[in-house]
Amino acid sequence: MSLERPAHARPRLGFLGVGWIGRHRMKAILETNAIEVAAVSDPSPEMAEEAHRLAPEAKLVATLDDLLDEQVDGVVIATPSALHAEQSIRALERGVAVFCQKPLGRTAAETRAVVNAAREADRLLAVDLSYRFTEGMQRIREVVQSGELGRIYAVDLVFHNAYGPDKPWFYDPALSGGGCVMDLGVHLVDLALWTLEFPKVRSVSSKLFRDGEPLGLRLDRVEDYATAMLEVSTGAAVRLACSWRLQAGCDAVISASFFGTEGGAALRNVNGSFYDFVAERYRGTARDGLAEPPDEWGGRAAADWARRLAAGARFDMAAERLVEVAGVLDRIYGR
Ligand SMILES: NC(=O)c1ccc[n+]([C@@H]2O[C@H](COP(=O)([O-])OP(=O)(O)OC[C@H]3O[C@@H](n4cnc5c(N)ncnc54)[C@H](O)[C@@H]3O)[C@@H](O)[C@H]2O)c1
Repeated sequence: MSLERPAHARPRLGFLGVGWIGRHRMKAILETNAIEVAAVSDPSPEMAEEAHRLAPEAKLVATLDDLLDEQVDGVVIATPSALHAEQSIRALERGVAVFCQKPLGRTAAETRAVVNAAREADRLLAVDLSYRFTEGMQRIREVVQSGELGRIYAVDLVFHNAYGPDKPWFYDPALSGGGCVMDLGVHLVDLALWTLEFPKVRSVSSKLFRDGEPLGLRLDRVEDYATAMLEVSTGAAVRLACSWRLQAGCDAVISASFFGTEGGAALRNVNGSFYDFVAERYRGTARDGLAEPPDEWGGRAAADWARRLAAGARFDMAAERLVEVAGVLDRIYGR
C-alpha cells in the first residue's frame, strides 16, 4: 500500500491472471474511471500482451510478489480456481485489498483463512458473484424479501453449461479444485442463500457423476453433473442441478426459481444464452415481467468493488457469508 499516495489519488490496482475473465473484468473496472491499472501479471505472454493493450500504462511483471512490490492498493485475481485462496492471502497479508474470481477457496477452511486475513488486515475483500448483479436477480430478491410471495417453501436452481469449459485446467482437480459444483454450483448455492437472507443449512444430500457414472471417491477427476437437495432453517427445500457438457440441446440452461405461498418468481436464460436473462413474477398461471435483456451485468461486481475501494472502504462483514457457501459445497462433496 502506497503511503505517499495523496488522499485524492485513484487506487492503484494489480491484475493477476488476465485470461478471458480477467480481461473482461479489467475492462469493466477501467470503465469506472475510479482506479489506475498499475501492473499486470500472467505467465502467458499472449494474455499479458492483450491486457497491456487495454491498459497501456500498466507495467508487465512476472509474479504476484512483483505485482505487490508495485505499491498497489488492490489486486484483481482471475487465475485458475485452486490458486485463489493462497494468492488472496498473500495480497491481504501485504495490506492489499482483493477482488477474486469465484470460488474464493476450494473448501470452507481455505475460504475462512482468506476472510480472516482480510479482517485482520482490515482490507476490502469481494468475490465475483456476478449473477447477484443481474437486473433479474436484484428484482427477484427484492420481491422475495418484501414478503409479496408469502413464505418461500421451494427453490429450484439450474446451471447446465452444455458447451463445457474450453480450457484444460478446469478438468484437472489440482488446478480447479473440483468440477461443475466448484465452477457453477457455487453461484447457485450463493443465489439461493443470498435471496433467502442466509438461513442456516440444516441438511445436504447430493449425487455427483462423471461421464454418466457415479464419481465415487476418486480424487483424480472432477464431477461433470451434480444434483443436490438442501433443507434450510426456514423449512424451504432447495434443489440444485449443475453440469458441464450435458446433452441439453443448447449452450446453457440457467434458472433460479423461488416459489412461495402467495406467488413465485424466476430468472431464466433466453434461447440457451449465457448472457441474456428474463425475470418474471408468477401469480397462479399468470406472469409479469421483472427484467429482460439487454442487461450488461457481467462486470458489475468488479466495478462495484473498484468504486468501493476508491471510496475508502475497508473490510466488509458480508465476506463472512462466503464461508457459509463454501461450507455447503463441502457438504455437497461429502467432506
Ligand atoms: N464470476 C464469474 O461469473 C466467472 C465466469 C467465468 C470464469 N470465472 C472464474 O475466473 C477464473 C479464470 O477463468 P478463465 O475462464 O478466465 O480462465 P483462463 O484460463 O482464460 O484464465 C486464467 C489465466 O490465469 C493465468 N495464470 C495461470 N496461473 C497463474 C499464476 N500463477 N499467476 C498469474 N496468472 C496465472 C493463465 O495464464 C490465464 O491467462 C476461474 O477461477 C473461473 O472460475 C468466473
